[in-house]
Amino acid sequence: MTCSVLVGGGWGDEGKGKCITYLCYNDKPDIIARAGVGPNAGHSVEFHGEKYGLRLTPSGFVHKGARLLIGAGVLVDPEVFLHELDYLNKYNVKGRTFADIRCAIIEKKHKEQDQASDYLSKKIGSTGTGCGPANSDRVMRVAKLAQEVDEMKNYTTDVPTEVNQALDNDKNVFIEGSQGFGLSLYYGTYPFVTSKDTTASTAAADVGVGPTRVDDVIVVFKSYITRVGEGPFSTEMSPKKAEEMGLEEYGTVTGRRRRVGLFDMDLAKESCMINGATQIALTCVDKLYPQCERVKDYSKLSQEIKRFIDEIEGETGVPVTIISTGPDLEDTIDLRDELL
Ligand code: GTP
Ligand code: IMP
Ligand code: MG
Repeated sequence: MTCSVLVGGGWGDEGKGKCITYLCYNDKPDIIARAGVGPNAGHSVEFHGEKYGLRLTPSGFVHKGARLLIGAGVLVDPEVFLHELDYLNKYNVKGRTFADIRCAIIEKKHKEQDQASDYLSKKIGSTGTGCGPANSDRVMRVAKLAQEVDEMKNYTTDVPTEVNQALDNDKNVFIEGSQGFGLSLYYGTYPFVTSKDTTASTAAADVGVGPTRVDDVIVVFKSYITRVGEGPFSTEMSPKKAEEMGLEEYGTVTGRRRRVGLFDMDLAKESCMINGATQIALTCVDKLYPQCERVKDYSKLSQEIKRFIDEIEGETGVPVTIISTGPDLEDTIDLRDELL
């Protein structure tokens, strides 16, 4: 059995959705469990020419044999949850997607508070999805749980029991985090962060897996950095420069323009250390080096890209095992066999 955890190494939007889809489609884990904050996330998945934007459903949904679970640590907005069940209907997500009975619920009032608060919506630049106010209610122990609300009646389960029993029975479990290291409430650029820790240990705890059971921690980095919302960003470039370099991006959930900057080795080193990374997935290599667009073979990469990858491995001490050269899951170089 293997239990892998995948998390973002930057300020979110590193391309976790793409990497998760690739890994789950290839490795076919029995359970794909979603960790992280909640529907403030927007994972993009491109599969067989179709694009999906996901906020709560695990991005590994394209592997139809997996149970798709949402861990207790994740906030659930029933409206978003039920919408995605319909939206992804052709992948038979109904009947295999369940949230933990203990997930805290985002109510309308939380979204209103998030959007009405100048501090959250303007100073921090929150996503307005109600996550901060709902986590605050949870800490105050007044939040409702999934087992108490009617909309979730047919869609709850005991996630830690399912996940740990699967591991006991030699099955494979994939835990997908959301947001990124720089947005961690503990280790990120406080107060310009999200409403909880976003590192691998918390992702495991979110789904009820103890640290001794985790085999692999995959940290995803983009070849450059993007950030939405406010806060420090030491390698940031001007929007004009980003446009010139072809690195302009807009958010999946909020449609906001993402701030863009160069790869930050110090951030990468700290992120690998605190996440306990065993592997790195490097995405959007094609955006920085267009000549490698859709390349699927490491030997076909230019010396320049190989040097960049060697530098990341040398500085972090962690092997780069997945190189993403396009948004579709097929545009991937998989070097994991070389680890064996
Ligand atoms: P959060 O959970 O919100 O942090 O998001 P995420 O990490 O899943 O990333 P998101 O999908 O929001 O943003 C990544 C963007 O890059 C999406 O538009 C992806 O389709 C795209 N993408 C991912 N990998 C690649 C790649 O290798 N090349 C290119 N060109 N685009 C990519
Ligand atoms: P909140 O999580 O909505 O409270 O937002 C707090 C900060 O985290 C803001 O800067 C958001 O832009 C950022 N953030 C939250 N979730 C994501 C994500 O999934 N991707 C990128 N940024 C995020
Ligand atoms: Mg995103």
